[in-house]
Amino acid sequence: MNSKERFLAACRRKPVDRPPVWLMRQAGRYLPEYRHIRENHDFLEMCKTPEIACEVSLQPWLRYKMDAVIVFSDILFVPEAMGQKLTFKKNEGPNLSPKIEKPADLKNLLKVDAKKAFSFVYDTIALLKSKLPADVPVIGFSGAPMTLAYYMTDEKIDVWMKEYPKEFHSLLDAISSVVGEYVYHQHQAGADVIQLFDTWAGNLTKEKFQEFALPYIKKSIDIGKKIVPYIVYSRKCKHILDDLAGCGADVISIDPNTSMDKAIKEIGDKVAIQGNIDPKTLLTTPGVVRQETSRLLSKIKGRTGHIINLGHGVLQTTPLECVEAFVETVKHAV
Ligand code: CP3
Repeated sequence: MNSKERFLAACRRKPVDRPPVWLMRQAGRYLPEYRHIRENHDFLEMCKTPEIACEVSLQPWLRYKMDAVIVFSDILFVPEAMGQKLTFKKNEGPNLSPKIEKPADLKNLLKVDAKKAFSFVYDTIALLKSKLPADVPVIGFSGAPMTLAYYMTDEKIDVWMKEYPKEFHSLLDAISSVVGEYVYHQHQAGADVIQLFDTWAGNLTKEKFQEFALPYIKKSIDIGKKIVPYIVYSRKCKHILDDLAGCGADVISIDPNTSMDKAIKEIGDKVAIQGNIDPKTLLTTPGVVRQETSRLLSKIKGRTGHIINLGHGVLQTTPLECVEAFVETVKHAV
């Protein structure tokens, strides 16, 4: 099987010769060739210049030949398109301004023409498709509504859920429309798979997740039209596995603190599973990485529908030889 056949088959729970493998945040600062480009360009400029974004997306694949390439971008371009200014301060992470603090601030949000607003992302995807062999799948992505709302409200989602639930629902609804159209156009540009990052949604209780996060994952997927497989990721998901399995996605991406045995038991044959090596494991040695990856491979043996990945993004200080050990162990799996 080639990478694209293998990846799509795993998403759809069809038999594969071996599980496909890629890493969340596989393009980034652990790579010397990324740091080299980053010396002369700022992060937002890199994302918004299709030639650079394309080159950076290809860097990990050129080294390790993972089974998929994820487009180099960021989830926070959605809030930016909705009217918040996005900046990254060195070593501080992202900043969005003006902040959305109270319902009256919602009127400042802009209506988004998703086809225009994110054209740089679609151009990068099209460029990637032209440079890659046809048998390598490209992953497009977006933040999911709750995680985007988390950043848009300056992490004050608890206040909004308690004080202004009705207005918070309308914010989440507005974000869902943008996300759905955004991923639809990524597919139109050539993305073979879409991943929605709901990184922060798993911090909610199950009840709050069901009320404020789940309906908007569903809505985004519906508006995206579901032409390609969808993967949904949350960073703490052990209490919401059944909800995620029913959200309309084809693959649920599991964090490192959710036991794979439990995930397999609860998800059963409903959807495929992605994950979940702890990114910290890749800070050790190639020997340890091989051992842990082999352990995961033996757990999922015999189950159709598994994509090997980390449980969260690659860490900046990850040694190159540990990434290699991870990918190669999966490639040699039988
Ligand atoms: O996976 C990939 O290789 C594709 C690129 C990608 C980036 N961000 C590049 C990036 C993806 C898929 C993301 C998703 C993203 N962005 C998420 C969801 C996934 C997750 O990790 O939970 C979130 C929450 C963000 C928002 C974001 N972007 C934060 C909080 C930060 C700062 C923290 C950090 O890692 O520096 C970013 C910056 C960012 N996004 C970088 C990269 C490569 C670092 C930029 C740099 O070079 O300085």
